[in-house]
Amino acid sequence: MKIAVLPGDGIGPEIVAEAIRVLDALELPYEMESAPVGGAAYEAHGHPLPETTLKLAKDADAVLFGAVGDWKYDRLERSLRPEQAILGLRKSLGLFANFRPAICYEQLVGASSLKPELVSGLDILIIRELTGDIYFGQPRGRRSAPDGHFPGAEEAFDTMRYTRPEIERIAHVAFQAARKRSKRVTSVDKANVLETFQLWKDVVTDVAKEYPDVALDHMYVDNAAMQLVKDPKKFDVVVTGNMFGDILSDEAAMLTGSIGMLPSASLNASSQGLYEPSHGSAPDIAGKGVANPLATILSAAMMLRFSLNQAEAADRIESAVKHVLAQGLRTADIWSEGTTKVGTREMGDAVVAAITKKTITG
Ligand code: IPM
Ligand code: MN
Repeated sequence: MKIAVLPGDGIGPEIVAEAIRVLDALELPYEMESAPVGGAAYEAHGHPLPETTLKLAKDADAVLFGAVGDWKYDRLERSLRPEQAILGLRKSLGLFANFRPAICYEQLVGASSLKPELVSGLDILIIRELTGDIYFGQPRGRRSAPDGHFPGAEEAFDTMRYTRPEIERIAHVAFQAARKRSKRVTSVDKANVLETFQLWKDVVTDVAKEYPDVALDHMYVDNAAMQLVKDPKKFDVVVTGNMFGDILSDEAAMLTGSIGMLPSASLNASSQGLYEPSHGSAPDIAGKGVANPLATILSAAMMLRFSLNQAEAADRIESAVKHVLAQGLRTADIWSEGTTKVGTREMGDAVVAAITKKTITG
């Protein structure tokens, strides 16, 4: 098993370091190699996704990714900005299926901005299409407006587009995931306005015929955003496009108390995957040792389960995380009165201790 480790920028290196210590504690037979990505790679090689980094990722069974981005790169031309690294990896590796689970751990019910009864027991799986939509659609660019309210004015444009096979494959991923859960899929679209999402809705409806045991409903994205804060537990598997999935997954993340808890997996057709926390690089707290490493540690668990065929090891990580939360250990983002505030390293230590202890007591 080969794991490419891409720590990136901001808090990326700190949180990835803890995930690696947790993986090491499991004593599994894997090889790991690191490479710079994002702003760190721009500094070292003049490009956010250097050829060597891309090759390392392509040749690996799985990629463990930290985070990229920093305000100091905001004035670089778009193709050199750190965010291009993650977009380039998704596109080059064909990572079209993004899993973003939003689980509210019982101990963190009070950390959510919603009333406890709305989030207690919450367990949603957002499946976001990751290589199409307005993120990648061509043409895009700037020009002088050919028509409209201000002909001749400076104008920017992007293109939203999806092909039938792109929608079909993500729909299959969603229905198959639902079969392992409560057999319900909500497909989120904007078919009332956008042609792209009328096709989305039609294709998802067609694919659903192959899964008569799974219940499908459709929801417009604005309504979905509202329902997520009104009654989030009515959702189980949510499948949607790249752009809507980006927005709704941040919203869902917050329901669980902290985006610092949420892992993600991005898979291609051959189960090669990239695993990253759902949060960003948080440059404001970088280097201070206060970031929550649990989203990255839980991403490592998803990596073991989805790409490395080590489901039991993944379970061990997930129980260790529940154990440290039950012990009352909290990083600043999830801290509340009556719990113990710990830093990034101490949180990693505690997860490692929970794993090793379990090994000894069997
Ligand atoms: C995410 C991020 C990325 C996205 C950015 C960093 C390009 O927000 O993974 O959700 O928009 O997809
Ligand atoms: Mn996002």
